[in-house]
Amino acid sequence: MNISVKVIHIIFYLMMGFNISAVQAAEKVLAKQIYQNNCASCHGAAGKPDPENPMFKQLGILPANFTDSLFSSREPAKDWFLVVKEGGAAKGFSNMMPAFKEVLSDIQIKKVISYIKTLAGKHEYPSGDMNFILPIRTKKAFPEDEVVWKLRFQDDANNSNRDQIRNVIEIEKRIFKRTQLSLELSHKIDDGVDNGHGNFDQIEPGIKHVIYENPSQQVITSVGALLAIKTEESNSSNEFIPYIAAAKRLTDTLTVQGTARSTLPLEKFSDGNVELSSVIHWSPSPWPRSLHPGMEVVASFPIDRGTGITRKSFSQLSLIPQAQISLNKRGNILLNFGTEIPLNDTNRYDYRGYVYLVWDFADGGLLDGW
Ligand code: HEC
Repeated sequence: MNISVKVIHIIFYLMMGFNISAVQAAEKVLAKQIYQNNCASCHGAAGKPDPENPMFKQLGILPANFTDSLFSSREPAKDWFLVVKEGGAAKGFSNMMPAFKEVLSDIQIKKVISYIKTLAGKHEYPSGDMNFILPIRTKKAFPEDEVVWKLRFQDDANNSNRDQIRNVIEIEKRIFKRTQLSLELSHKIDDGVDNGHGNFDQIEPGIKHVIYENPSQQVITSVGALLAIKTEESNSSNEFIPYIAAAKRLTDTLTVQGTARSTLPLEKFSDGNVELSSVIHWSPSPWPRSLHPGMEVVASFPIDRGTGITRKSFSQLSLIPQAQISLNKRGNILLNFGTEIPLNDTNRYDYRGYVYLVWDFADGGLLDGW
């Protein structure tokens, strides 16, 4: 920031007598100035790049269009901060997007990003700032465009009949502005029951809708429901699974997410349970290829505990330490892993291991951004 801009800044504050809305308007003028001086030549004066510009035609790359509300809403401001500070290459974009760390201060970069976020106008899309890390058990509140391959293995040293491997492919697709459809196909190998031969035991269509979102408080809440349809090979009852999911950013580096869900067998609701889960993630570095650790707590309560010696515990508790790391620079191909440790009723299993491979296809193809 040059001195004259700083002086204008101070004068604005004094003149406005710290009148908040006037100060905000002044801030916007300054942010716009940063944009016009540094970004408009490529991204366009109003945020829309000119596709006829011979430079872009020759390189076959068009700078990001900030007036596209779906695109603008999706991208978390912290991701854009990294791109503007370190240049496009930091996230596997073109080198044509320069690094501004020598030109603009962190505060100026934050300001210009808030400004470009306004260029898409008012819209109903939830902010990508609330698209937090995918937890192992807790459901996300944010509507995704994603494919996830989930591997879960369960180990029991005392009873190998309880060893199990489950593979799930899940496709999630946003429809309209705040709704998401999903489909899960799951394959299970039960060691004891089918001698290592697995079967496709479940298809699970689902829907989720964002019911509340407040970007200034960084809160998002969704309701959803899944229908677990068992195949003929699996002789259990189909299940209806309604849930509510909420998430909040606590600080720059900490987020919390939680879900309350009920799994209700259609044949007998009372055989079902209610599960509460919550996870805290820590993201110490903005670089996608850094590790984001998390700790999740799961509590499951049977609806009907039964009687006599088979009476079930009031709750089954487990802990899932976990972490996420991005495999590519873009940050849209991710690996999540964790292990679930039962805290009570420890005869359920010794531990469960989880490996998730996530591809956020809205942010790029499988071969982009490496
Ligand atoms: C020399 C041209 C040029 C200038 C100047 C420029 N950009 Fe870019 N910018 C690009 C190009 C090209 C891309 C897209 C790169 C790609 O898709 O591989 C881009 C991408 C971006 C992205 C990433 C969007 C995404 O896809 O997630 C952001 C954010 C951005 N620019 C912000 C800015 C800001 C803010 C400024 C000014 C401080 C600026 N740019 C200045 C060319 C430029």
